[in-house]
Amino acid sequence: MKDDRPKRLLVCVNPISGPNKPCCGGDRNSEKLANALQAGLVERRIDCRVERIHCLNKCLQGPAMRIAPGGDFMLGVSETDIPVILDDLEALCGTKTDEETPDFSGFYPGG
Ligand code: FES
Repeated sequence: MKDDRPKRLLVCVNPISGPNKPCCGGDRNSEKLANALQAGLVERRIDCRVERIHCLNKCLQGPAMRIAPGGDFMLGVSETDIPVILDDLEALCGTKTDEETPDFSGFYPGG
């Protein structure tokens, strides 16, 4: 059965590490990745939005992301992965028509 629910790219931006637990934010820079992905989605009119969350329970393998609902995890993401992720999202989600307004929710300029 086809899942028609809107797709979201969940990006862990948790900046708080623990004694034996690194985090995706902070030194791993996932907020910068989220910003770049959001900008790419808007520029390419990809019908998906970035949703910043605080932990995907993959802390040791971060920066962690996941396409929701029900997508695979993307782990150890770096800036060089962004074009491929955008290509995958475009193939999965399609692009918005000219009549549709880009979704800027979840986009925090300068964040
Ligand atoms: S801090 Fe990012 S997955 Fe846990």
